[in-house]
Amino acid sequence: MTDVHTHILFGVDDGAKTLGQALDLVRREAEEGVTDVVCTPHQGAELLRPALLRERFAALCEAAGCGVRLHLGAEIYYFRGMTAALGRGDLLTMGGGRHVLVEFSDRFETENIPDAVYELSVAGYIPVVAHAERYFYLDRRGYAAVCENGGKLQVNARAFTRRWQRGLLRFLLKEGLVSYIASDCHDPVVRTADFAAAKKYVRAKFPAQEAALFGSEAGADILL
Ligand SMILES: [Fe+2]
Repeated sequence: MTDVHTHILFGVDDGAKTLGQALDLVRREAEEGVTDVVCTPHQGAELLRPALLRERFAALCEAAGCGVRLHLGAEIYYFRGMTAALGRGDLLTMGGGRHVLVEFSDRFETENIPDAVYELSVAGYIPVVAHAERYFYLDRRGYAAVCENGGKLQVNARAFTRRWQRGLLRFLLKEGLVSYIASDCHDPVVRTADFAAAKKYVRAKFPAQEAALFGSEAGADILL
């Protein structure tokens, strides 16, 4: 399984603070049965620093040794001009491929998410909407529109521990709209990599999707 959303890269955002914490998180991922991890530090209009991220990633790979395979990507806070910045190489795609992990405000309705997804799609990218369960202003038709416009949805594993989010998660899974369940892990203690609740729920309610979401090939297509 590939964990497609993590803040394991250390000292660059609100995720792992030190190399030690990053290595703890890598170990934790291995315990969860994850074979591949995409490091997705935050990027945004005012937070580009692609060279620093590449440098830090190289340091992490060297220290982590073998075991879990590490890949570099980013979680990009959507902004007007994002497509141009991707074209310039200022923003990182997932493993250097066509997939782009993109997040939006979860407090204010600042963007029309299906329109933003469409803009990225027509530029040749495959936008993956990060922690899709958070956007209160996206109604059920909106979620379907994201997928119709060439986007994919990623939901957080921890969301399955919250009863009030179950209705939306059930709808998304029932409609086959969830492409990835990821940890969005930030630290080894509180916001760590923990797939237990998500696996239990999917196994009980949507067993036909278990292999696609947690099997050996789960998430691997995001690196293409
Ligand atoms: Fe994140």
